Amino acid sequence: QASSILVTGGAGFIGSHSCKALKMAGYLPVVFDNLSTGHAEAVRFGPFVKGDIRDQDAVAAAISKHKITAILHFAASAYVGESVQHPNAYYDNNVGGMISLLKAASATGIKRIVFSSSCATYGVPETLPIIETTPQRPINPYGRTKLIGEQMLEDLAHVTDLTFACLRYFNAAGADPEGELGEQHDPETHLVPLALMAASGRREVLSIFGDDYPTPDGTCIRDYIHVADLARAHVLALQHLMQGKPSIKLNLGSGRGHSILEIVRAIEAKTGRKLPIRIEPRRAGDPPSLTADPSRAAEVLGFRAELSSLDQIIEDAAPWFGLKCNVAA
Ligand code: UFG
Repeated sequence: QASSILVTGGAGFIGSHSCKALKMAGYLPVVFDNLSTGHAEAVRFGPFVKGDIRDQDAVAAAISKHKITAILHFAASAYVGESVQHPNAYYDNNVGGMISLLKAASATGIKRIVFSSSCATYGVPETLPIIETTPQRPINPYGRTKLIGEQMLEDLAHVTDLTFACLRYFNAAGADPEGELGEQHDPETHLVPLALMAASGRREVLSIFGDDYPTPDGTCIRDYIHVADLARAHVLALQHLMQGKPSIKLNLGSGRGHSILEIVRAIEAKTGRKLPIRIEPRRAGDPPSLTADPSRAAEVLGFRAELSSLDQIIEDAAPWFGLKCNVAA
């Protein structure tokens, strides 16, 4: 019988792709999601429990009912700008949710947790690429809630037999290569989907937030990782913990940085469409450049991003925005 894994936030973008990867690896993903930002139609690989992670009894009941052996914890609020405007809501959902989840896990004897952390915990790093020991100094409430989540796990693991994996994602993008799952945030704030919408005519123009950064073309550089690569890393992290190995904290990135203008050009080349852009002022809180050193995840998990070229990310995401790619491009 397949080992059942509770996937909080399993109806969301990275969570749903991870459920597919779990299923393919022989696990049964049990999604626990309040559908505040997730989508019921993305729950396709196992049972669905509609509930809020801040409801400790509901989490514990789902764990018992479905004979859960480990948790993948994605459920969280994840808009940086919103977190600055509504810090209480972010501490409530992300930190409050973590407290309740950990209490439910401890009450039901769960000892393995994989946690969605973020490169946002590093703030504006002094050196690049970012390694796992780069100081974590988040510059917004979202990043702080993720750092607190990491620290809670660490404190608890000191005094119990809990082991955990904190996975610090860089910029998740793309979509299921088999076309079964895509990215659908509301509101959408992420660069790649917004750029694809502008290329398809679903939006008038792509705003570029700042072209005067200290980067080669003046636009911000990010490390984009294909969501299916991220999903596979979760399965590897889970297997690592299930084998009784120690807790880990890992960057998940491709190790390559791309500027906004590079993405614009790649989308134009792939789709043959003109992508209308407008240069706007900088967005508050954006570091000029964020790239991962992915070597620790390779050493510890044998994980390497395989689908994270810009071409592949664009090719897999494009159909969700009504775009066809010229594969020969
Ligand atoms: N950008 C634009 N125009 C847009 C949208 C984004 O120019 O319309 C720029 C941003 O200013 C940034 C880059 O594109 O320079 C990427 O922006 P995203 O919003 O796609 O992603 P971020 O780099 O801001 O990602 C951050 C953190 C993640 C976190 C995520 C949450 O780095 O860890 O926000 O949404 F998960």
